[in-house]
Amino acid sequence: MSNPPTTPEEIAAAAKANAATFLPSIPPEVDHARPILEEYSGIAPGDVDAHLFTIREKAWSIFPYGCIGSFGFLNLQPTLQDPLFQTVTTRLQSPEAAETFLDVGCSFGQVIRQLIHAGVPSERLYGTDLRPGFLDLGYDLFRDRDPEKSKATFIAGDMLRDDDAELDRLTGKIDIIYAQYFFHLFEREDQLKAAKRMVRFLRPGNPNVVIFGRNGGPKVDGWEKYVLDANAWRQLWDEVGEATGTSWRTEMEMESGDDWIKATFAVYRAV
Ligand SMILES: C[S@@+](CC[C@H](N)C(=O)[O-])C[C@H]1O[C@@H](n2cnc3c(N)ncnc32)[C@H](O)[C@@H]1O
Repeated sequence: MSNPPTTPEEIAAAAKANAATFLPSIPPEVDHARPILEEYSGIAPGDVDAHLFTIREKAWSIFPYGCIGSFGFLNLQPTLQDPLFQTVTTRLQSPEAAETFLDVGCSFGQVIRQLIHAGVPSERLYGTDLRPGFLDLGYDLFRDRDPEKSKATFIAGDMLRDDDAELDRLTGKIDIIYAQYFFHLFEREDQLKAAKRMVRFLRPGNPNVVIFGRNGGPKVDGWEKYVLDANAWRQLWDEVGEATGTSWRTEMEMESGDDWIKATFAVYRAV
């Protein structure tokens, strides 16, 4: 299998594997995104559902992630309830703020639009994703392709390649990185590559840089390879530090049920 999967055969196999996630109706969790679609995007409330079905159809054909079939990509609840996300939003909203925010693996840029809707100046917001089709569809989803409406920057790039010239545009520019449901896509070796790439994005002179987000999902066989525990996460960032001449302090909280696992993490510069 190519990593990440991109061939037509791999896309067809993923569509089959994730078929059960393809919901016939829009779940209530999406309600958190409705104010953005109605107030920021200007979609009439009665037209939102039809708009979302159209966008999901297109997104599923780009890559059929379970979170697309289930409309999970518009479930902003875990993000909005995250105390660190709330702190970061306040930090970015401050009139004196000059800090920048990058969402890695942002798919449609829904978190970026949440921040714009919350009053954060769009020119300080960045999103990146492997699949340019998702970034492009984000403009259709939120109806903000016009640079007069949003000056957020979206860059298509592969976080596992350290020679991706597009991503080099972010080098040294970013203060806050959000990575939700991103690291858990990869086994440890690739998580290490992505983490080292993130370090290159961070502004060297800012002691308050932070990388945060969450991993998790169903407790399928071998989940430990993807959702690292607190110890493994600290060791990974020790290795990142050694490789990049930097030093990191990690936090991780894990919660686990019989058939699910959730890991919320933050990584701070050790000063
Ligand atoms: C499970 S989705 C999570 C999306 C979003 N962060 C959220 O919380 O809803 C993972 C995203 O990571 C992107 N992705 C996968 N591999 C990547 C890579 N190597 N570099 C950058 N993005 C990648 C996918 O295209 C997808 O949009």
